[in-house]
Amino acid sequence: MPAEAAVRRFRERFARRPVGVSFAPGRVNIIGEHLDYCGLPVLPFALRQGLYLAFRPRSDDRVRCLTTLPGAGVADFRLAEDPPPGFGRYIHAAGAGLAAGGWLGRGPRRGFDGFDGFLEATLPAASGLSSSSALVVAAARALLAVNRDIERNEEDLRRLALDLAVAERGVAIQGGAMDQSIALGGRAGCALQLAFDPPAWTAVPVDPNRFAFLAVFTGSPADKGGAAGRIFDRRVEEARQALAGLEREIGPSGGYPGLLARHPAAALRRAVRSLPPPLARRATHILEEARRVGRAASALRRGDAEALGGLLDDSHESLRRDYEVSTEALDRLVRTARDRGALGARLTGAGLGGSAVVLTTPDRAAALLDSLRRDYAVAFPAVPSGPARILPAASPA
Ligand code: GLA
Repeated sequence: MPAEAAVRRFRERFARRPVGVSFAPGRVNIIGEHLDYCGLPVLPFALRQGLYLAFRPRSDDRVRCLTTLPGAGVADFRLAEDPPPGFGRYIHAAGAGLAAGGWLGRGPRRGFDGFDGFLEATLPAASGLSSSSALVVAAARALLAVNRDIERNEEDLRRLALDLAVAERGVAIQGGAMDQSIALGGRAGCALQLAFDPPAWTAVPVDPNRFAFLAVFTGSPADKGGAAGRIFDRRVEEARQALAGLEREIGPSGGYPGLLARHPAAALRRAVRSLPPPLARRATHILEEARRVGRAASALRRGDAEALGGLLDDSHESLRRDYEVSTEALDRLVRTARDRGALGARLTGAGLGGSAVVLTTPDRAAALLDSLRRDYAVAFPAVPSGPARILPAASPA
């Protein structure tokens, strides 16, 4: 059990007991890719898999975090100083987000305490399943617990997700707030339709008698610190330029959500044609993917797995052709899954490496998973699960 392993290793390394284990889940996004930073709704769910951070308060603002995760090393830094290199920067971002949002440190004492920690994971790093945002969220919950914060309501969690997303952008790619939101808001048995403008989280039940999802890692990491990160940030910029071009053509509309709400599809298509070619393709993806999110949520609600599968396939094709964030390994994986009977499959998360989400029916899921595992070492049922939480640090003797 990963939580127990984190507790045991903490005790071995620090010769003391942790006070709790902060868990935060990874996610798959069913559909709505590269939309969150455009302010448009997305449809992810939280995974059972995630990060486990055993922690114990310190009485200064230092964080010392150890892990056995491959290549990670040690994080040892002060929250008040600049972000450290390595995985510690995500823990630092959690502190920065909490400070900027006024979540802690408002009391008589200035600043807030750090922790000693030990990190375990059931999610492969850089697999496109949001392990970095899970770390930001797990660290934020640990810092809130260490500083005796109280439970929060959903509105607080939505605001916290946005603060953490802004802070994570300070040390990583210029993404939106999908990953932090689903880690904080995940609900067992449901996907969440996350809207950002204005913010709203709507649970969409996933009927386990009709839908079965698999997460399959290509084995090629999405190198967000390198080339993949640079392409990602370029897409964010292109999405912004495409919006500016569309609004010049059609009139100010208050961003992508306003464009979609105020203008008929034909007018938008005309405006898209006025853009230079790469921007026209980026805008085509964004506007069509946004429509698919609404259709996918209704397909989920009516239990229509065939229709949802078709939307997943269309989304992948659009990400490959128009948004250009797929890779050969992702295309091969998606093709293989479909050839072996999946109802639909697409890259999930940023793309540029990482994983695919595969849709099948419950009766066919085990056979399809077995078959995919012959070619892919990391493949597992993706089950809509609950949010980040603090687990008790009960440990074996
Ligand atoms: C990454 C980012 C998210 C989102 C996805 C693409 O996971 O962190 O905010 O932009 O890519 O949908």
